[in-house]
Amino acid sequence: MIILMVMDSTVKRVKIFNNSAQADEAFKEKSIRVLRIGDKKVCLAKVNDEFFAFDALCPHQRHPLKESTINAFQEVICPLHSYRFNLKTGAEAHHLCKPMNTFPVEISEAGLFIKLY
Ligand code: FES
Repeated sequence: MIILMVMDSTVKRVKIFNNSAQADEAFKEKSIRVLRIGDKKVCLAKVNDEFFAFDALCPHQRHPLKESTINAFQEVICPLHSYRFNLKTGAEAHHLCKPMNTFPVEISEAGLFIKLY
């Protein structure tokens, strides 16, 4: 797996892959990988050929979300208490805890980027 970590400090984005083909090759459908970006750990997941980035730890009791599954509604299901977090908004399906942090993923001819804040 090729992961490029190039910080673009003007817009706070990190280049992960050179292009979408590299990203597609590295990820199976509904797979989740943890990336270390500086002192931050971020999960990157692929669902229906879309990429989503979110915090590596569950906002409920900080269980690693790398061990999660992803359902048909584009929700990450934490294995510890089965809370379900929307991949786009981060909201828990029943508002049982605060939302999971999500990060925009941008794919262009220049590569796949995660925007951090
Ligand atoms: S730690 Fe994730 S749902 Fe409780």
